[in-house]
Amino acid sequence: MLASGSGTNLQALLEVPSIREQIVVVVADRPAAALDRAAGVGVPTETVTYSEYPSREAFSAQLADVLEAHGAKGVVLAGFMRVVSPVFVDRFRDRILNIHPSLLPSFPGRRAVEDALEAGVRVTGVTVHFVDEMVDHGPIVAQVPVTVDREDTPATLHRRIQEIEHSLYPEVVEDFVSGRLWVEEGRVVRL
Ligand code: GRF
Repeated sequence: MLASGSGTNLQALLEVPSIREQIVVVVADRPAAALDRAAGVGVPTETVTYSEYPSREAFSAQLADVLEAHGAKGVVLAGFMRVVSPVFVDRFRDRILNIHPSLLPSFPGRRAVEDALEAGVRVTGVTVHFVDEMVDHGPIVAQVPVTVDREDTPATLHRRIQEIEHSLYPEVVEDFVSGRLWVEEGRVVRL
C-alpha cells in the first residue's frame, strides 16, 4: 500500500478485516498521517523519502524493493502523490490499483477536482483503475459519477467525492485481494 497524505482511503481499507489482513506494509514518500493510521492498527510502515534519491527511477526502484522485501504481491495506491516510473510499473505489472477523483480520462493529474470545477462540468466522479506507464491511466475497473452543484467549491466537491471513494475502493480492493479482479491482455476481468 502506498500513501502520501491524510490517508482517509487507507482508513476505509483498514476497516475491512479481509483487506487489512492482506496489507503487508504501508509506504509513504514523506511523513504522512496515513502512516499513523496504519501503525495504530499494527500494520508495518516504511518511509522512502523522495528527495533522498537522485532520480525518479532510483526512488521507484527503492519503493519496489521495500514492497517486495515485505512480500507484497500487489500494490494499492491510496492518495500517493508521486508518479512512479516505468521501472516500478514493470515490476508490479497489472498488479497496481489507483483511485482518482474524476471520471478518467477527464481531468488526470493532481488538480482533478479544481480542473473539473473550472471546466464547468455538471458531472465528475471517481475512477478506480489499474496503473500503467502513463499518469492516471490504465484499465478502468469502476467509475461512479458525482453531480457538481452550482455552489460547489473544491473543498465541498472533494468531500462528496471522498464519500464515494470510501465505499468504492474497499469494494474493489476486496475483489483484488481475494483474486476476483485482474487484468488479462489489457482488459479488466472482475468475477
Ligand atoms: C483522494 O481523493 C484520491 O482520489 C486521490 O488522493 C486523495 C487521497 O485522499 N488520489 P486520502 O489521503 O485518502 O484522504
